[in-house]
Amino acid sequence: MAIETEINNIFESFDKNRIFKDKSFLQANHRPENIPHRHEQIKQIASILAPVLRGERTSNLFLYGKTGTGKTLSIQYVRDQLLKRVKEVSEFKLRIEYLNCKLKKVSDTEYRILAELIKKLGGSVPSTGLPTQAVYNNFIEIVDSKKQLIVLILDEVDQTIKKISNDFLYNLTRLNSELSKTQICIVGISNNLTFLDELDPRVRSSLSEEEIVFPPYNAIQLQDILNKRAEAVFKDNVIQGGVVAKCAAFAAREHGDARRALDLLRIAGELAERSNSKKVLLKHIDEANEKIERDKILDVIKSEPKQFQFVLHSIIQLSEKQNNSIFTGEVYNFYQEVCIQNKSEILTQRRVSDIIQEFDMLGIINVRVISKGRGGRMREIKLAITKNIIEKAKKIIKDSLNYN
Ligand SMILES: Nc1ncnc2c1ncn2[C@@H]1O[C@H](COP(=O)(O)OP(=O)(O)OP(=O)(O)O)[C@@H](O)[C@H]1O
Ligand SMILES: [Mg+2]
Repeated sequence: MAIETEINNIFESFDKNRIFKDKSFLQANHRPENIPHRHEQIKQIASILAPVLRGERTSNLFLYGKTGTGKTLSIQYVRDQLLKRVKEVSEFKLRIEYLNCKLKKVSDTEYRILAELIKKLGGSVPSTGLPTQAVYNNFIEIVDSKKQLIVLILDEVDQTIKKISNDFLYNLTRLNSELSKTQICIVGISNNLTFLDELDPRVRSSLSEEEIVFPPYNAIQLQDILNKRAEAVFKDNVIQGGVVAKCAAFAAREHGDARRALDLLRIAGELAERSNSKKVLLKHIDEANEKIERDKILDVIKSEPKQFQFVLHSIIQLSEKQNNSIFTGEVYNFYQEVCIQNKSEILTQRRVSDIIQEFDMLGIINVRVISKGRGGRMREIKLAITKNIIEKAKKIIKDSLNYN
């Protein structure tokens, strides 16, 4: 191909990309240099952790706040700043290790977490096979192999008790008494606001010697965050007036989630690009919002255990058959048949009611209580998802249950 044609092709395809200047600023792993509306929290973290620069163990610290409130971003910022100040020559070694405890679904999470930590500290263990106690001993050994001060950041730490138990955290918080050379402080992070209450009191008080709350962002703050990113991400004048405000308003409703706000903006941009629009319009935000809601629901359905899928399958089948609202009793009858056909254990009506309630909370169905005179009550169920999602849900259930 002649160079001229080639260059023209390049220009043309560049020209077609009318919306984005650099999308990477909206990617999940992008770390903005500026973190507006979190200066207080960042300063607090910094002053609590500052003594580690002198080699002193600090209190354990617990950060919590709803999803997308900047917890991970803030702790990583402070970590980077601390590491910048570490002196080349000093009589102790400072390590600040970050681990996200939400590891992929595997049975032995405790083993995996310990193995990850050992790896970060420069050791190695086989990825499976050893008894957990042996891995634990290995962990202690490597931690205590030389004089060091370790700050262990355990992000999404609530995942550990979901899958393991209190004991794991208990052991970690007691670690210092087992160590002779090394000292350890723990920074726990969680978006589950009731996580601390679920802990054994001894673990709770030790883990949260200091606590910092990350409040949700309000719509104005979200606009600041979005505007900063939008400058770097989009070409000039491609955003219709009010787009950022609308993203911010949607995300503020979703408990002030900055991730949601940024996702909305990115998806709206992609939708605009795909539809050959010259600008990101307000309607693209609505479409983006629908897409996110839809994906969220489908993700939930995909990850639910089989029994949940049996119940949802029953609700969908009944709704389609009766083309009408249905009642919990009917769902339970149908569900029992499904279990029998699948040679699966049958849960009690009570458990199935709980599952139905969860679907209601997730917005997959609407449940309405209807009084039937003489104090009798019935719960009426209606699917709350669109036809399109129902079809996708059916496919997921069919694939996963191998059920026709
Ligand atoms: N103040 C801020 N300024 C700029 N970007 C922000 C700010 N707060 C959050 N973000 C961005 O929003 C997204 C979510 O932030 P982050 O991952 O820190 O949330 P989180 O509190 O750790 O949420 P989760 O509990 O779900 O882990 C990230 O992409 C982050 O860069
Ligand atoms: Mg996080």
